[in-house]
Amino acid sequence: MLGRRCLDQSAFCRQFRKISTSKYKFPNDTIVDILKKPVNSTASANGWVRSVRLQKNLAFVEINDGSTGRGLQAVLKPEMAKDLHTGASVCLTGQLVLSPGKEQSKELKVSDCRVYGLANPEVYPLHKARVSFDYLREHGHFRSRSKTFGAIWRIRNTAILGLQHFFQSHRFVQAHTPILTSNDCEGAGEVFRVVSNESLKAYIKERQAHDSSPFEKSLPMPSREQVAPGPSEFFNHAVYLTVSGQLHAEMLASAMSRVYTLGPTFRAEPSLSSRHLAEFWMLEAEMAFITQIGELLDFIEACIRETTAFVLEHSEEDIAFCSKWVDKELPSRLAGLTSSQPFARITYGEAVEILSKVNRAWEYPVQWGLALQSEHERYLAEEHIKGPVFVTDYPKCVKPFYMRVSAIGERSADTQETVACVDLLVPKIGELVGGSLREDNPDILEQSMRHAGLDVEEYGWYLDLRRFGSVPHGGFGLGFERYLAYITGMANIRDLILVPRWLGHCRY
Ligand code: 4AD
Ligand code: MG
Repeated sequence: MLGRRCLDQSAFCRQFRKISTSKYKFPNDTIVDILKKPVNSTASANGWVRSVRLQKNLAFVEINDGSTGRGLQAVLKPEMAKDLHTGASVCLTGQLVLSPGKEQSKELKVSDCRVYGLANPEVYPLHKARVSFDYLREHGHFRSRSKTFGAIWRIRNTAILGLQHFFQSHRFVQAHTPILTSNDCEGAGEVFRVVSNESLKAYIKERQAHDSSPFEKSLPMPSREQVAPGPSEFFNHAVYLTVSGQLHAEMLASAMSRVYTLGPTFRAEPSLSSRHLAEFWMLEAEMAFITQIGELLDFIEACIRETTAFVLEHSEEDIAFCSKWVDKELPSRLAGLTSSQPFARITYGEAVEILSKVNRAWEYPVQWGLALQSEHERYLAEEHIKGPVFVTDYPKCVKPFYMRVSAIGERSADTQETVACVDLLVPKIGELVGGSLREDNPDILEQSMRHAGLDVEEYGWYLDLRRFGSVPHGGFGLGFERYLAYITGMANIRDLILVPRWLGHCRY
């Protein structure tokens, strides 16, 4: 399978094997380990009650601890089970015996039952076996106890390992790029500004002293211009939550060659769509010494295929659960993703041509020079290609300042109209990956910065990377929750992150 061979070769996996054979012995076993024990062994299982079935002489209780989707069936005397209701936390001790039931091969014949915490069935919100994802989101602090969310978190964990494995086996160095930054990498202005409470209080006090209008007094936050740099501002200048670690990754790639980062990313996009979060995780890779956009596409494709193959191998049961209960089309989608059929590749120009021939009333116009909208992206992937499609070479005017112009040779910022960039579009999700070659010529880059209205002084360090030992390079960012939605079939990316934040919602 994918990689048993690489698994042995890479330093990461040598390390990983070491972790999995740690000599430390945990005081208690997880249910996944208990289920592997031979019949007649004694076992103590900790977990939360999933279901209780009372018969005249026996009680059947299923408990789960998150280590596997499967529950452990425990058989107790009814009087032992009187406090056991869905959601209660317990430690059940007994002997593993062969189970006569069809659902499981072994069950625990309980001799001792200890209740850690009761769960009153009259008020416990997850008492019913089947509830909607909307309902679970409203009870987010409990939703991880449901079968679906257990499967999702284990798949998320495996996908991180798969990505680590992929990058480590290609000699990438993992970096942690900062969360507080002074740049708006994508230039879209969708940043969250960070202001210390003290400077905010000082600002409000000052406003109140100068302005008596009640409307002004109630203004809760200063705008970008309103807080002048000065001693009251913690950093002495405007600071934001990062929208992308790319520029910092480039800093590191200009010394370490191949780097990647997986971290939280923040965007103040006023969107209520099922594909947008205000806080999401992005996997970003940056590679020095790549010169062709095609190399970047090959690498992104390999990353997605191999990570998905890793997830299929190591989270087989949880993917099977999602295929059965979440999205019936998942098996064919995953088969397509891991088959040898290459992802389709078209240019933005070709995409515009395809879309203009479609007889459909688009909400947003289709015209060369305008950005592709979600409806266009989904049409291309879902209906035209019916699978993943790389769209390359977008007009320079719809993309950020750092992208390299498409044609290499005659390199001037104002004569070239398209940039060497790519968006990977996939059915149901739309854009999954965005990436590009980066402009490595300091003069052209400076021109692009000025054109984008950036403060060239502020980005002097970024230009320095081109002034001293510049190399051709490129990279990409993959929206991690969007990727997880794609490989699990979940329809809303709010259900792929532990605690989702989106417009108007920042609970917990
Ligand atoms: O296309 P984007 O904006 O690219 C960048 O930020 C580059 N600087 C990355 C790089 O080259 N290092 O974002 C990358 C991906 C998108 O394709 C999308 O999958 C995801 O991040 N993304 C979001 N995911 C969830 N919620 C949002 N609000 C997202 N915005 C972007
Ligand atoms: Mg993008």
